[in-house]
Amino acid sequence: MNEPLLDIQNLRVDFHTDGGVVHAVRNVSITLAPGEIRGLVGESGSGKSVTSLSVLGLLGTPRARVEGGAIVFRGENLLDKTEKEMRGIRGSHIGLVSQNALSALDPSFTIGAQLIEVIRLHQKVGKETARKKALESLELVALPDPARRMKAYPHELSGGQRQRVVIAIALACRPELLLADEPTTALDATVQKQILDLLLEINRELGTAILIVTHDFGVVSHVCSQVTVMRHGEVMEAGTTAAVLEEPKHPYTQGLMSAVPKLHLDDATRAVPRSNRRLYEFKQLVSAQGETR
Ligand SMILES: Nc1ncnc2c1ncn2[C@@H]1O[C@H](COP(=O)(O)OP(=O)(O)OP(=O)(O)O)[C@@H](O)[C@H]1O
Ligand SMILES: [Mg+2]
Repeated sequence: MNEPLLDIQNLRVDFHTDGGVVHAVRNVSITLAPGEIRGLVGESGSGKSVTSLSVLGLLGTPRARVEGGAIVFRGENLLDKTEKEMRGIRGSHIGLVSQNALSALDPSFTIGAQLIEVIRLHQKVGKETARKKALESLELVALPDPARRMKAYPHELSGGQRQRVVIAIALACRPELLLADEPTTALDATVQKQILDLLLEINRELGTAILIVTHDFGVVSHVCSQVTVMRHGEVMEAGTTAAVLEEPKHPYTQGLMSAVPKLHLDDATRAVPRSNRRLYEFKQLVSAQGETR
C-alpha cells in the first residue's frame, strides 16, 4: 500500500478556557493517501476545524494545546516543526481554503497582487514569472477573463468567483494537499456544485489530495471517495464513502445523513440495485440542487 501523504495519529487538542478545559479533539486518527479526497464530516462543534487547523499549526490561540499524537505529513511529524519550518510548509505543500472567501482576501489589493505576493513568498522568482504563474492559477480555476480579473479588487467579483480566487491562491504553489474547510457552505446551490466540480477537476489534473471539512453528506457523496465522521471530538466511523453511506455503522451517522433532505424516488433511482441506491440518491440530490436554481 502507498504510504499516506497525511497520517494524523491519535491527535488530542485541548482548549484551556476560563470555564475549564475543552477536549476539542480526542484521539483522532485520519489518513489521506496521495491524490485522495476525504470528507471530514460532523455536526457543528465536533472538532473538524480544530483537527484541520492543527495540521497547519494554525490553532490561533495560546489557549489551544496539542496534548498528544502525531501529524505525519510526507513522513515527517509536523508537531516537531518550528514556526519557521511550518511557514515553509503552509502554502507551498499544504494549501488552505476557508469558508468565507471575502475574509480570506484583502479588500485593498487586487486579485493579481495577492496571488503574486503568495507566489513570491514561497518561490524565489522574479515579478514577471510570478505574474505568469498567477495568471496560470486563475486559468486553472476557470475564472473568466483572467487577465482582466488580475486587476480587479475582491468586491468586484461574485461570491463564486471570489471562492475560485481563494482556491487559485491556495493552489498557486501547487501543494500536494489542500485543506478545504466548508469551501462551499457560503455559496448558493448552483455555485456550490460548480466549486465542488472544480475541486474534483483539480484533483484529477494535478493529483492534489484534498481534505474537505463539511457538515453536509451531499458534499461528501459528490466528491469524496473516503469519509471520516466526527462527533464530540472523536471519530465515530471512517471508510469508503460508498460503504459509510450504504451501511452507516453508527446511529449518529444515520442521523447526520437523514438531515439531508431526501429526493423522491424516480424511475431512474428504482433501476439502481438496492445496495447502491442510497449513494445514488445522494448523488441525485446534489445534482438536482445544482439544477433547480
Ligand atoms: N478558540 C477556542 N477556544 C475555546 N474553545 C474552542 C476554540 N475553538 C474551538 N473550540 C471548541 O472546540 C470544539 C471543536 O470546534 P471546531 O471549530 O473544530 O468545530 P467544527 O466541527 O469545525 O464545527 P463547525 O461545523 O461549527 O465549524 C468546540 O467545542 C469548540 O467550542
Ligand atoms: Mg468548523
